[in-house]
Amino acid sequence: MKNPIAKVLVPVAGLGTRLMPATKSQPKEMLPVGRKPAVQYVVEELQAAQLNQILLITGRRKRSIEDHFDSEPELIAALEKAGNEAALDDLKFLANGAAQFFYTRQSVQRGLGHAVALGKEFVGSDNCVVALGDSLIAAADPSAPIRGMMAAHMDLGAAAIIAVEQVPPHDTHRYGIVAVDGAAPPPGEPIAVTNIIEKPPAGTAPSTMAVAARYIFSPAIFDALERTAPGRKGEIQLTDAIAALIRMGQPVYAWLLPPDQRRYDVGNFESYFRTFIDFALADERYGYMVRQYIKAKAYEL
Ligand code: UTP
Repeated sequence: MKNPIAKVLVPVAGLGTRLMPATKSQPKEMLPVGRKPAVQYVVEELQAAQLNQILLITGRRKRSIEDHFDSEPELIAALEKAGNEAALDDLKFLANGAAQFFYTRQSVQRGLGHAVALGKEFVGSDNCVVALGDSLIAAADPSAPIRGMMAAHMDLGAAAIIAVEQVPPHDTHRYGIVAVDGAAPPPGEPIAVTNIIEKPPAGTAPSTMAVAARYIFSPAIFDALERTAPGRKGEIQLTDAIAALIRMGQPVYAWLLPPDQRRYDVGNFESYFRTFIDFALADERYGYMVRQYIKAKAYEL
């Protein structure tokens, strides 16, 4: 069956200041998580959902992302000549299937909303997916959330469907938090969002459901972004534009990730370390060795 949505925006232009000095001269999206850079997981998830037109919104110091997804015939030829089948296998992602990559640059880091707005011409009158380049989905099928959200988006004629995850109440001030009428929805079912607030002060969050780095939008998001003034730190927040969509009377839904579909982000060291450890433990080639090491190490702690 043909995918109802083909276009996806992957913002990767952020400064990554919380990860200095690791991100002084390299993008945080290229930090390794196990055997691959973080953004490769994101692209593989999108390809598995048959999202084949991928616009990466990059910036200065982000060139290595373009290089990573570029085919490299000389390298492949050298590996073939050397008969290095293992390395050739690890580079299979370069064949890219049906995916086409596009790049644009966000020259001034004016926030996630500003980065997404740069995709307006690319998206045109289509629906699109937004997947943050520093956030990974760990699941038996990492493309399951996006595929479910796309189907619901088309069924409902939604303006936006936002993936959300449950976070501890004392952490809500670190995230965009959604308000819904009534109790939290069952996982994997859309529920109408009545408001969304970026980083609500402690004790004021309307729920414990935090925005989880995957979104589906109708082109109405670009009108909402144009109406959105910069917020704190002078950045245009995507959550503020979603709140504007709701105020415009547009239908916006949340999609709660079930416990076996987890979002990880590499945006700060605490969550980066956790992400690396969990993905290394799950690695099909090295996971066993990592588990043995951690078990032995645990005795020393
Ligand atoms: P963050 O909110 O983590 O911001 O970005 P950041 O600027 O990358 O990191 P800090 O706060 O300086 O440590 C979430 C996602 O949005 C992208 C980032 O690249 C990341 O994938 N982003 C953020 C942009 O593309 N442009 C921006 O102006 C801000």
